[in-house]
Amino acid sequence: MRIDVLTIFPAYLDALDLSLVGKARRDGLLDLRVHDLRAWTTDRHRTVDDTPFGGGAGMVMRPDIWGKALDDVLATGSVPAPATETPAVGLDHPAPAAAVTLTPAPRQVLLVPTPSGERFTQAMAEDLARADQLVLACGRYEGIDARVAEHYGASSSVEVREVSLGDYVLNGGEVAALVIVEAVARLLPGVLGNPDSLVEESHGAAGLLEYPVYTKPPVWAGLEVPEVLTSGHHGKVARWRRDQALVGTARRRPDMVAALDPHQLDRADRVVLAGQGWFVPAGGRPARVTVRHGRAEDAAALAELAAFTFPLACPPHMAVQDIQAFISEHLTSAHFDAYLADAARYQVLTAESADGVLVGYTLTVLPLSADEPPYADDVAALVTARPAAELSKVYVLPDYQGSGVAGVLLEATAADLAVRVVDGVAPAALWLGTNKANRRAQRSYQRAGFTVVGTRRFRVGDSLEEDLVMVRDLRAGEAAEVGETTGPTSGTR
Ligand code: ADE
Repeated sequence: MRIDVLTIFPAYLDALDLSLVGKARRDGLLDLRVHDLRAWTTDRHRTVDDTPFGGGAGMVMRPDIWGKALDDVLATGSVPAPATETPAVGLDHPAPAAAVTLTPAPRQVLLVPTPSGERFTQAMAEDLARADQLVLACGRYEGIDARVAEHYGASSSVEVREVSLGDYVLNGGEVAALVIVEAVARLLPGVLGNPDSLVEESHGAAGLLEYPVYTKPPVWAGLEVPEVLTSGHHGKVARWRRDQALVGTARRRPDMVAALDPHQLDRADRVVLAGQGWFVPAGGRPARVTVRHGRAEDAAALAELAAFTFPLACPPHMAVQDIQAFISEHLTSAHFDAYLADAARYQVLTAESADGVLVGYTLTVLPLSADEPPYADDVAALVTARPAAELSKVYVLPDYQGSGVAGVLLEATAADLAVRVVDGVAPAALWLGTNKANRRAQRSYQRAGFTVVGTRRFRVGDSLEEDLVMVRDLRAGEAAEVGETTGPTSGTR
């Protein structure tokens, strides 16, 4: 590849003699030429700028000087790429007088670094690495006369791209040229010693930031390398790295999470994203769900959601009147008033979609003392850890089922329990009863870290149902407080 940089400060680009780019130049993989723009001036002072038409501060770079320089540099780079094709010669193809040489026009790209350009990205670097010649025009002062980009943009043989490194202003295009040359050059075949380094790096095909990396010593400043990395278990290492990439991207670049292709996200990915407050709606890209503590004014909406979702979780054999009886006994607006008023006994968390719709909630019954057993004897015998909290309800609107909202709520519930200290101890276990027939719910609880410990009897109206009792060990993962307006920030399983 040929790269030409035009600048009034050629020495700025001396750094391109160093490291991998310098080696690529010496190895002949990159033909990089740095030119002093003033070489194209004709006056005694070698002037490249003048005052702006229309007034204003600063100076503008003259189009005539740039025009001469760019014409020359583009002309020397327009020598066709060496792609020669000789037609077959045989009985049906008598030899022509002279072999025909097909000469595809070289792809020449004029790059003008400017804070008002399109954002320079890895995808753009990958595209530019396929060009034959890049010409970087480094402006200074207030920039280059706008007719330069317009003139070359109108030419069919040159592509013009005005590019910005980011939303800040540099003194000129030289630093941007250094960045662009380095980002492009390392993608050229043969430049990186180990091309595998390109596969998983940040801003690559996965659309995620890269996972954290570690080397020797295994303990430094009291900090240990994560155990999984020394386990030798390649599958676990790969999963851990993917989890870290998802968590880091969710924390630092939510815009990248929102742009992830849902088809590239497996179940484990969705659980991790749920832990960061993201769900994946059916047929859509990841979206953020806001989890917060329920407030008194939520009672009516919660009762409405409960009355709508509770019947959907009941097995088909259950009589409608039994289901209705359960709702009137436990899930009316008045019941939610009571739950919301008694924060020591009940934890209510709500999940709202980005457009403010209540899409799910959890209701958890908290222990009031460290040794308080679960209220029913059959459960108390099965759930032995203390203090133990009961996840009494976790309901999500049908459109959001399977999207990860329930996961977001469960992680937020677990994270919030870690700070619900009773008698100096945070709850050690979260247990729940779920109808034996509801396999979908059981699978989703299993994914969220619950395991089956036995069965219990549970009354819905006049119907006595058999539930599975499942428990999640709350001491197993890290946890953090649930904020008023944001999703959980805790660990994920
Ligand atoms: N020149 C000045 N500021 C710049 C930026 N942010 N990106 C690219 N070129 C620039």
